[in-house]
Order: sequence, then structure tokens, then C-alpha cells
Amino acid sequence: MDAKVYELLNDQINKELYSAYLYLDMANFYADKGLAGFQNWFTIQAQEERDHAMLMLQYLHNNGQHVELKAIAKPDKEFKDLMDPLKMALEHEEYVTSLINGIYAAASEVKDYRTLQFLDWFVKEQGEEEMNAQDNISKMELFGGDPKGLYMLNSELQARVYSAPSLVL
Ligand code: FEO
Repeated sequence: MDAKVYELLNDQINKELYSAYLYLDMANFYADKGLAGFQNWFTIQAQEERDHAMLMLQYLHNNGQHVELKAIAKPDKEFKDLMDPLKMALEHEEYVTSLINGIYAAASEVKDYRTLQFLDWFVKEQGEEEMNAQDNISKMELFGGDPKGLYMLNSELQARVYSAPSLVL
């Protein structure tokens, strides 16, 4: 595997685990506010991020590469209101999309077609992640200002269930 592609993929394991940490921090924020539905949504989001990390880890193993785990940074975002984590989640997903695109570009440059095919799943996944994050913001804008609306939205987010990633290596 090309050294740069390897380095970016290995780093991305850390970024995905940080994403899981960040979403757990958001889940904790909503737990403290008594919003178990929002907590549930972000806890499942954290599980998905761990899955992303594990897929990259397994991909490197499958290609005979050594995986180097690095320290996971402490989530350092401060949330002032119920909307803050939702907006920061969208910003974070846009950032992750830019990282995935960066790996894609590096793999493309060295004609690493196997990695490109692997990354195709992540390119699509990022589209879904951004759409879901935007959806949460839109719903909060529409209904979050009213206690009954917030209650309903919390109930809706409570119904989210975890499902394993569709990509199998
Ligand atoms: Fe692993 Fe939310 O992207």
C-alpha cells in the first residue's frame, strides 16, 4: 500500500474513534437535560463511528498493514443550548467528509483501485450522515421551541435502533 494512503487510513481510525467520543459527549449532555431520546440518538451515532473505525482497522489488516492506535483527544466542545450539539454534529460530519475525500484523492492519485472501492461505501455513508444531521437541525428549528414539540421529537429520537454497517469485509 502507498505510504500516504496508509497513513491517512491509519489516522482515520483515530478520527472515527474521536467522533464516537464526541457523540458520547453529546449523548451525556442530553442525558443531563433529561432528554433520553436525544441521548439514545447520539449513543447509537457513537456506535456507528466505532464501526467505521473497525472497518478501517480490518481493511488495513486485510491488506497486510500494521495498525497503529493513537491517543484519542478529549472532546472539548461546550454546549450552551439544546441546538448546539446538533449544529456541531453537522459541522463535524462535513469535516469528516473532507477527510474521506482527502483519502479518496490520495488513493486516486496512486491508482489504488481497491482502496477506492472500499472508500466508496464511506463516501455514500457521509452523504447520509450529513443528511441525518441536517434533518435533526431542521426538526429542532421547527418543533424544539415548544415543550410538546420537544417531547414528540425526543420520543422520535428514542425510537432509533442500532443496525450494523452494510459494508462487510
Ligand atoms: Fe464516521 Fe460520522 O462519520
